[in-house]
Amino acid sequence: MKLAILGSTGPSGIQLVKEALQRGHDVTAIVRNPDKLTEKHDKLKVVKANIFDSDSLEPHFQGQDAVLSCLGCGPSWFSLWTVTFYTDSAKPIVTALRRANVKRFIFMAAWYTKYSSTDPFMITWVIKPIFLGQVLKNMGEMEDYMEVECPDIEYTSVRPPQLTNTETTGATVLFHEGQRVPSEKRLVCCRRDAARFMLDAAESGNFKRKCIAIASG
Ligand SMILES: NC(=O)c1ccc[n+]([C@@H]2O[C@H](COP(=O)([O-])OP(=O)(O)OC[C@H]3O[C@@H](n4cnc5c(N)ncnc54)[C@H](OP(=O)(O)O)[C@@H]3O)[C@@H](O)[C@H]2O)c1
Repeated sequence: MKLAILGSTGPSGIQLVKEALQRGHDVTAIVRNPDKLTEKHDKLKVVKANIFDSDSLEPHFQGQDAVLSCLGCGPSWFSLWTVTFYTDSAKPIVTALRRANVKRFIFMAAWYTKYSSTDPFMITWVIKPIFLGQVLKNMGEMEDYMEVECPDIEYTSVRPPQLTNTETTGATVLFHEGQRVPSEKRLVCCRRDAARFMLDAAESGNFKRKCIAIASG
């Protein structure tokens, strides 16, 4: 497949680039700082673009089978500052997808992007108010935007829990359509497993217009 990857210089994005190349795909890594991506491969093209500008993105989306994103803006301490990064970037990305006639868009979000009264105490009263509330809220707003305003886009929101840099065991990645993967154990997801799941979704065409929680098995 021909795949464009946003956020390729981040710790998850680079795993997605490596996994895609290992699977034989043609990869266009769209970055803001090409010097940061040191990976070299015959099937890897690195281009510079502005994720907030559809005119800048569109030429690199032309001819792609899918666009995948591991973009992220980091935690928002004490959730004092409103985060708009995910919706601000989603809108030009969707405009560029439409102009380039690319339907498939797979992006990384997180567990707990929406409020639920059944969420664990730590999520509702510690993690969201102190660390990640605004980030998760804006990821949820991006998911809502894709669902409500982009009926023409075959999106998949891939929602991992805490990400780790450990090696993949190669085990089947756990998944569940919803806020989290139900389990008695505390689950995490290694970044390579998240990459494997995103590429499985791109290759299979599964999970279109769905938000899927994942975790390492
Ligand atoms: N960390 C976790 O435990 C965890 C858990 C669940 C979900 N997530 C989410 O999963 C996603 C990936 O997380 P991660 O920790 O692997 O990566 P990350 O550190 O959030 O990576 C950020 C990526 O986005 C790019 N980026 C940020 N601002 C940009 C801008 N203004 N223009 C262009 N590119 C920009 C960065 O590019 P530069 O390299 O140029 O800065 C980098 O490639 C994020 O959305 C994160 O919130 C993280």
